[in-house]
Amino acid sequence: MPARKQEFVKKGVGGPRGSSVINFRPVVSATSQRRSSAVLPSVLTFAVIVASGGLLLMIEKGMLNNMETPPPRGNGKNANYLQQVRHHDSTVDVESQILQEIRNRTIRSMCGQKNMPHNVWSLSAFQRKTLLQHILVSEEHRFLYCYVPKVACSNWKRMLKVLSGALPGVDAKGKMDHRADLLFLSDLQPEQIRHRLRHYYKFMFVRDPMARLLSAYRNKFGEIESYQKKYGAEIVRRYRKGHAKDTNIAGDDVTFTEFVRYLLDEDSDRMNEHWMPMYNLCQPCAVTYDFIGSYERLEADAAHVLEKVGAAPHLQFPERQSWYKPVTKETLHYYLCSVPQKLLRELLPKYILDFSLFGYSLPNTTAEHCRH
Ligand SMILES: *[C@@H]1O[C@H](CO)[C@@H](O)[C@H](O)[C@H]1NC(C)=O
Ligand SMILES: *[C@@H]1O[C@H](CO)[C@@H](O)[C@H](O)[C@H]1NC(C)=O
Repeated sequence: MPARKQEFVKKGVGGPRGSSVINFRPVVSATSQRRSSAVLPSVLTFAVIVASGGLLLMIEKGMLNNMETPPPRGNGKNANYLQQVRHHDSTVDVESQILQEIRNRTIRSMCGQKNMPHNVWSLSAFQRKTLLQHILVSEEHRFLYCYVPKVACSNWKRMLKVLSGALPGVDAKGKMDHRADLLFLSDLQPEQIRHRLRHYYKFMFVRDPMARLLSAYRNKFGEIESYQKKYGAEIVRRYRKGHAKDTNIAGDDVTFTEFVRYLLDEDSDRMNEHWMPMYNLCQPCAVTYDFIGSYERLEADAAHVLEKVGAAPHLQFPERQSWYKPVTKETLHYYLCSVPQKLLRELLPKYILDFSLFGYSLPNTTAEHCRH
C-alpha cells in the first residue's frame, strides 16, 4: 500500500530550509568583528564540501572531460570582498554574499569547460526554446527573471504584473494566470533578445533540488487531477507491476519511488518543467545571471532584487499562500528514505548541476542515515 502523500504534512513547522543554509548559521551569528574574518575560510570549506560531493559523482559519470581550474582571483579582489562584508551589518547580507560568492565561483569554473554552452546561441534550438520561454521580461524595470516552477514563481509572476501595472497589488484575489499580461523573451526577435540579455538585470531563484522535486510530486500527484490523469496514470502503467495494460487508472496514488523511477527514464531537456532540472530551465552557463536567489531565504533575497530593479519601496514580495504546505526537513527525510537508496543515488547525476552550481549538498543516501 503506497504511502499517502498528505500524511506527513506538518503545518507551520519551520520553513523549507536547505541544509546548506543551516550550516552557515553558527558562523554568521557571531559578532560582526569576528564575522568578517571567519567568513572566508568557511566559504572555502563549504565550497569544497559541496563541490567534492558533486564532483565525485561527475567524475564517476565522466561528466568532466576538459575541466579547467578557474584563474586565481587577485589578492586585491579578495580584500575587496572582505571589505564589502565588513561594511554590511545585517547577518542577512553576509549570508547572501557568501552564497552568491560560492555560486559565482562554482558557476564560473564549471561553465568554463569547453563542452559547456557559453551563450544563448550555442544552445541547441530545443534548449534555447525552453530557456527563452522561461525568461520573463520587465521593460519598465529593465530586468529578466528566469522562472523555475516550485520556487515561488507564481509570486514572482504576480510581482511582475504589479510592476507593469496589470495587477493593482500582489495580494489581488483570484487565480494567477501564468501567461496573460506577461512578456516572455521567446516573444521577442533575436536582436531584441540579444539587447536585453546584454543590458538588463538578470536573476533567477533556486531551491534545494530534492525539496523541489518533493514539492512538485506532492502538489501535482496529490492535488492536480490533470497531472494525475496525464502523468500519474502513465507512471503507474509503466512502473507498477500488473498495470501495464490497465486502462482504468486514476493516477492519484503514485508513490515517490515510482516518481523517481519515472524521472530516471526521462530526458532532462524534455521533461515537464515542474521537474526539469533548474540548470536545463535557466541555463546559467549560457546566461550570466547577476543574482541567483534562494528559496530558503526568499524574503531577504526577493527584497534585494526588488531594490536592485528599482521597485517602489512600498512593494513587498507576497507571503506564501495560506494553503501552502511547507516541505520540512522531516518530510523530506521521510520521502527520501521511502525510496530504495540505490535508486536515489542513480537519480543524483541527473540533478548534479543543480546541486553543485547552486551550492546544495547532496542528500545522505546511506542506509544508516535512514535508520534515524
Ligand atoms: C558574480 O560576480 C560578478 C563580478 O563580481 C558580479 O557582477 C555578478 O553579479 C556575480 N554573479 C552572481 C550570480 O552572483
Ligand atoms: C550519513 O548519515 C550517517 C548517519 O547519520 C552518518 O554517519 C554519515 O557520516 C553521513 N554521511 C555523509 C556523507 O554525510
